[in-house]
This record gives sequence, C-alpha cells and structure tokens, in this order.
Amino acid sequence: MKQPPLPPVTLRQPPHLAFGAGVRAEAVDYLRRVGASSLVLVTTAPIRPLAESFADGLRSAGLTVTVFDEVPAEPGVSHFEHLRGSLDPASFDTVVGLGGGSVLDLAKLLAALAGRPEAVREVFGIGLLGGRARRLVCLPTTAGTGSEVSPNAILLDEADELKKGVVSPWLVPDAAFVDPELTLSLPAPLTAATGIDALVHCIEAYANLHAHPVVDLYALEGMRRIARHLPRAVHGGDDLAARSEVMLGALYGGLCLGPVNTAAVHALAYPLGGEFHLAHGISNALLLPHVLRFNLPAAPARYAAVARAMGVEDAGEDLATAEAGVRFLENLCWECGLPSGLAALGVPVEALPRMARAALTVTRLLRNNPRP
Ligand SMILES: NC(=O)c1ccc[n+]([C@@H]2O[C@H](COP(=O)([O-])OP(=O)(O)OC[C@H]3O[C@@H](n4cnc5c(N)ncnc54)[C@H](O)[C@@H]3O)[C@@H](O)[C@H]2O)c1
Ligand SMILES: [Fe+2]
Repeated sequence: MKQPPLPPVTLRQPPHLAFGAGVRAEAVDYLRRVGASSLVLVTTAPIRPLAESFADGLRSAGLTVTVFDEVPAEPGVSHFEHLRGSLDPASFDTVVGLGGGSVLDLAKLLAALAGRPEAVREVFGIGLLGGRARRLVCLPTTAGTGSEVSPNAILLDEADELKKGVVSPWLVPDAAFVDPELTLSLPAPLTAATGIDALVHCIEAYANLHAHPVVDLYALEGMRRIARHLPRAVHGGDDLAARSEVMLGALYGGLCLGPVNTAAVHALAYPLGGEFHLAHGISNALLLPHVLRFNLPAAPARYAAVARAMGVEDAGEDLATAEAGVRFLENLCWECGLPSGLAALGVPVEALPRMARAALTVTRLLRNNPRP
C-alpha cells in the first residue's frame, strides 16, 4: 500500500518569544519599542508584590499602568465580565498578563474582547473570534498551562458548571516572556499540580489521533524535561535549574496545544473543575493513570515512546514498556505529593455518572483520543 503523505499542520506562535531567567526585564523594552503607551496589567493577589515591582519598571519607562489583581484561580464568565466591565476600553492599548493560566486566559480574552459587544459565551468554541482589539503580552508565573503560547482560553461557565474553551488564533499573544524566576515563589503543591498539567499536555499531544511529527518534537522534549526535573522543582522550590527545566517543558507543552491539543484526560478532568472546583492540574493528575490504562491497547507504540521519553527502561515489548510508563507516572504524582483518589477530595461516588455525561460533551478534545 502506498504510504499517505504527512497531513498538513499550521504552527502559530507569539512572534516574540523569550525564554530564560531574567527575561521579564526585556518586556519593558519590547513594550516601548512596539509603541505601547497605556496598559492594563492583569494579575492575581498572591503575587501582588511581584506585579507591583514589574509595574514600577513599566512606569519608569514612561508607560501608564492600571493594575487589576482580582483574578481568582480557575476563573469563570462572571470574573471575565467583571474585569472587562471595570475598565474603560478607551484607556488602554495593551493588555499584559502576569500570572498562572487563570490570569493569562483572562488577559487573553480581555485583549480580544475589550470594547466589543459580544458576550464571552458567544465565542466559546473553535474559531469564533473575529479579531483582537488590543496588543497582548503574557508572562507566566506557573510552569503549567503553556497559555502564554497557546490559542486557548478556558473559563468556568457558571450556568452549567462546565469549563469551556475559546480557541482562536487571535488568542496567541504578540509576545511571551517565559522567565523561570517568576515561578520561584510558587508553593510545592501548586508546582506539582501545574507541572503535571504541563506533562499531560505533552503526553496527550503525542498519543493523539491527530499527532504530527512536528508537534511530536515538542511533546517528547517536554516530557523528557518535566519527568526528570519536576520532583526537584517541587521539593527544592529555589532550585532555579530545575524550575527552568520544568518551565521549558511547560512551554513545549503549550506549543503542542495549538496544532494538536489534548484528549480524554483533559476532557474527563473538566467536569471535576466545573462542579467540584478541583484545580486543573489536580483533576488531570487524578485521571491520568486511569485514562492511559484505558488507552494503552489502542496505541501501545506511542505510549511506549512516552515511557522511554520519561526515562523508563524499555521492557522489550511496547505494551509492557507502556504499562511501566503508567506506573512511573503514578509514582511521579505520589512523589510530588499529589492526591490519588476522588473520595478524599470530596467527590462522592454518586457524582460519577453525572461527571461522565458532562465529560462526553467535551467533544473538541474527545475526538483526539486514541481510543473511543
Ligand atoms: N489556555 C490554555 O491553553 C490552558 C491550558 C491548560 C489550563 N488552562 C487553564 O488555566 C487555569 C489554571 O492555571 P494554572 O494551573 O497556571 O494555575 P492558576 O493560574 O489558577 O494559579 C494557581 C494558584 O497559584 C497562584 N500563583 C500563580 N503563580 C504564582 C507564583 N509565582 N507564586 C505564588 N503563587 C502563584 C495563583 O494566584 C493561584 O492561586 C485553569 O483555569 C485551566 O483550565 C488553560
Ligand atoms: Fe491542561
């Protein structure tokens, strides 16, 4: 049989993408160079001192800065509309997000929808944004979501307690400054949860019906770095070398999200976030081994490669190597102090059918899963 040609793929990345300890300082020069004059700095209360010192640097460079720090973890539609409603759209030409995925996603949506008549609910889905109203710059402070380079923004829809996504090339920022020093203050449990999220982005993009060789490069490299360095970043929070490795892995994970995206671990995780407000990374960690064991028979070679990338020894046969990979992941989550059962987190067994039904509505991700 003739081999089919490789499928088409489109990579969209921030045109200015800086990585490395200290690169946040370059954001000031960048903003001046591109002609920014007034900006909204979207951030979150726990990192207010960091945000203030960043804002001071911008003000010293002659920029007008309004700081908005009321972003909670895992924000919803109401938080976005509160942010948009509290600002005069004529008062800023640039949105800067400084925070974890929760902050970055709100900043991305603000840049797209400032001054626009659409409600954010009207643009849930793929490709429904008509453009972006403001310049957009992102600085992640977690090594997790990869939102700083992805075309996605995720919000809780309080109306039906489901996490929903806006997916659009207009959500890829103009610039991202990925500075591992910004993660030094992230407490161990959050480092663990966000790091596992990033690892799952890589795994789900690699073992994916729409996997592509160009994305495989990022996915394998991301897994390699996160699997080897996450425990050190969790247990030695000031280890900048380990933080850098995990943050680069998370950046690679983010680069997988546009062209390929995630699959059933994320789809099944969303209802746990929506109804029980479990942190995104925790929901992913809980479901990871179970979804992978379900998927293994459908793609043993892919999951064996996942295992090898994480440093698991080859067991001589793909399925055995893949199974060893799942055991490695269970152990990694345990080593990082992540929980392993729903009951301990207050999710009763009666909720499971409802969770399953809600997960089945996340078709944009389930269609990627190697096993139906
Ligand atoms: N856009 C995407 O591509 C994408 C991908 C995956 C997940 N998400 C979404 O992103 C959100 C989760 O983002 P997250 O996992 O980065 O966590 P987060 O942004 O919710 O942050 C978690 C907590 O850590 C705090 N925090 C953040 N950085 C800190 C720092 N450096 N020091 C101390 N505290 C800090 C925050 O204030 C928050 O309380 C969810 O809503 C999820 O659905 C988006
Ligand atoms: Fe995720």
